Amino acid sequence: MFIIKQSKDLAGYLQKQRSAKKTIGFVPTMGALHEGHLSLIKKAGEECSIVVCSIFVNPTQFNDPKDFELYPQTLENDIYLLEKEACDVLFLPSVEEIYPSGITQTQVYELGYLESVLEGKYRPGHFQGVCKVVHRLVEIVRPNQLYIGQKDYQQCLVIKKLLTLIHSPAKIVICPTLRESNGLAMSSRNMRLSADEKQKAGGIFEALSYINKHVKAGPVKEIIEKAGNLLIQQELAADYVVIAREQDLQVIDVWDGQTKVIALIAAFMGNVRLIDNMILPLNFANYGN
Ligand code: PAF
Repeated sequence: MFIIKQSKDLAGYLQKQRSAKKTIGFVPTMGALHEGHLSLIKKAGEECSIVVCSIFVNPTQFNDPKDFELYPQTLENDIYLLEKEACDVLFLPSVEEIYPSGITQTQVYELGYLESVLEGKYRPGHFQGVCKVVHRLVEIVRPNQLYIGQKDYQQCLVIKKLLTLIHSPAKIVICPTLRESNGLAMSSRNMRLSADEKQKAGGIFEALSYINKHVKAGPVKEIIEKAGNLLIQQELAADYVVIAREQDLQVIDVWDGQTKVIALIAAFMGNVRLIDNMILPLNFANYGN
């Protein structure tokens, strides 16, 4: 695996690959890699000739400075895992490389409703920061396909919108969430949980599964309340528990039984904020975990 730190070196290398008719799969990450990330690398490897992974803990997407400071960094192990997964290139840029004119650059992305709900509401500025970094990375890598995990479902929709706004031909590939044995969605932030907290954080999956099992046409208030109680029982403090339209995340109070919907939860376990979601109704017979 090549480890490249300068954007001009990466762009030059990838230009040669494109000239040789190679396709490029790109997996942007903030490091602290886990099985979920590796499944994206694997999928990109199956579908593209060259796999590029970036590791960059992006300062502009953290609305909470403490969260930025505490974000896990495990570079040595990340390199080991990427090599094992046959990743071709690791892009490891500095802040200056990503933000040559400084991190306070003023470009604003028109994300509309997506920016004012759920993660957008609870983490003001977060998606603008995601757009800044992904815009810059996509300009450097110019991937054919960009691989991203469904755990960050709202981010998937934001990046889809970004690719349209910047007229990128890259196709977004949304990959399934990988889970621990108790259902907890794999996340770099899980590294900050104790064994006991990890166990209790499985309550998020329990709450989502409850919604999945009980959702039916009609008002959803009661089912949401019951799911919320499951979180409380596990000492999880919820920011939100909602059912929303899958296509645009419009939160619904009444389900018509037809529209494709998704349940989404954000909750704190101690001082670690976790998010997860489930597209409804999920048929567990076809569920791979
Ligand atoms: O999901 C992430 O790890 C980050 O938000 C991303 C897409 C790499 C941008 O920094």
